[in-house]
Amino acid sequence: MKCKKCGARASVNMRQHRMALCKEHFVEWIPEQTERFIKKYNMFARDEKILVAVSGGKDSLSLWDILVRLGYQADGLYLGLGIDGGVQYSSESHRLTDEFAKRHNLKLHVVDIEGEYGYSIPVLSDISHRGKGKPCSVCGLTKRHEMNRIARDLGYDVLATGHNLDDEAAVLFGNTLQWSSDYLLRQGPVLPSKDGLARKVKPLCRFYEREMTAYAIARGIEYIYDECPYAEGATQIFYKETLNQLENSRPGAKLTFYLRFLEARQSGNLFIEKDREAAYNIHPCERCGQPTSAPELCSFCRMLEKAKTVSE
Ligand code: AMP
Ligand code: FES
Ligand code: ZN
Ligand code: ZN
Repeated sequence: MKCKKCGARASVNMRQHRMALCKEHFVEWIPEQTERFIKKYNMFARDEKILVAVSGGKDSLSLWDILVRLGYQADGLYLGLGIDGGVQYSSESHRLTDEFAKRHNLKLHVVDIEGEYGYSIPVLSDISHRGKGKPCSVCGLTKRHEMNRIARDLGYDVLATGHNLDDEAAVLFGNTLQWSSDYLLRQGPVLPSKDGLARKVKPLCRFYEREMTAYAIARGIEYIYDECPYAEGATQIFYKETLNQLENSRPGAKLTFYLRFLEARQSGNLFIEKDREAAYNIHPCERCGQPTSAPELCSFCRMLEKAKTVSE
């Protein structure tokens, strides 16, 4: 297999694009494409301040690397979740994120959930009895709440996460299987800023996971290989495997699934009532001021409230 650009031996073969590239051309191609997606979906402009949520994994570290290489003003945010059982997942991912920031002379904000609220994610999950013994739902809720709070408090224009095509296609697959119209309406590369929510963007949403792995390795980025120890057996992983089987026999199926969905949504061709979104009554949470559709406190503050009553 030869590189499409220079004819040298290719190191990455992208069957869905019928294109192979050598290492040098691949690490140029990824940021070029990212820039194209940033413009195509109107993610952000050159003069806007970007907060990149960095987990220490290959996707978010690569995203930070790409945005900086493209010349955007991108600072990092690392959330310390306190997931340190058998594998030192949080401390190791924190160390790698810190090292990346230092090596490239970048600004990294670090917020430790236990330091901020008194409980690590596993403890908060245990005492608030959410998510049937698995901390993932408490973790997701907390990450969303904190990313939004910090992006707003620190005056960033936009919050960027490292979700790749495999992540997005798996979420889309799940939402389609359930016909979760509310979620389908909100899924996409850009969530505009609204009712106190920061604008959220996913610049890597059109890259396959294996492309991001290849990019991180080719760029010499040190990232955490382990998945979160709680992720095992999650439905999301099962959806990813299912889509990979499909992709194996039909290269490009995953990308088409996602892109056709975006096109249909864009042109209003999803069979979903369009005014559904308007039916939400969004207002600020009485405690933290972040947007919620619940009557008084947002779900994050209610969870903390419950944790406090139980642990007192
Ligand atoms: P995940 O939900 O673990 O698949 O992560 C999706 C995205 O959320 C990552 O690509 C990051 O942008 C962000 N993220 C996940 N965990 C953290 C963390 N501990 N700190 C900051 N950002 C995170
Ligand atoms: Fe949050 Fe695993 S439970 S990353
Ligand atoms: Zn080449
Ligand atoms: Zn709240």
